Amino acid sequence: MCMTIRLMTAVVLLAGLSVATMVQAHGGGSTEPMDIGALRPLGEKLLDENPYRGDKEAIKIGESAYGQQCARCHGIQGISGGMSPDLRQMDVDKENDKIYLEVTLRGAARNGKVYMPPFKGILPQEVIWAIRSYTDSRPKE
Ligand code: HEC
Repeated sequence: MCMTIRLMTAVVLLAGLSVATMVQAHGGGSTEPMDIGALRPLGEKLLDENPYRGDKEAIKIGESAYGQQCARCHGIQGISGGMSPDLRQMDVDKENDKIYLEVTLRGAARNGKVYMPPFKGILPQEVIWAIRSYTDSRPKE
């Protein structure tokens, strides 16, 4: 009996915690579904350079998508705690755009262990580039 109550308290506490994390991941804003309508459509063919670099709207959408899809490993607001690479440290150029897109689509696995899930078929390239615009815009320190 006592055990059940304690367990329930733990569940309630945990639920509260994840809501707080979600709100923080959204930059203190809403938890509405992401609206990517403001992103210029790019078609099916994958680009090899970020078409939205510096675009304010893309950065905003990227911030929200990053919070939902990447922050749990790469760190809240792009600041890695060291478990996964800090994406702000990737150079902002075409070469790294290509690497960024490839890794994000493919994920990372070695010896049967998945370090990062593949985002191919999960996120459209529009959102993936918006996330890159966001991490690029974050101060490196
Ligand atoms: C489950 C944890 C996890 C999630 C979620 C995740 N990543 Fe990763 N990511 C990693 C790890 C771990 C590595 C390092 C992989 C390795 O050791 O080869 C990595 C590597 C990368 C790299 C290569 C960085 C470099 O400097 O070489 C990129 C780019 C990247 N992730 C982008 C993303 C993006 C964008 C998202 C969200 C859409 C994302 N990741 C979500 C764990 C994650």
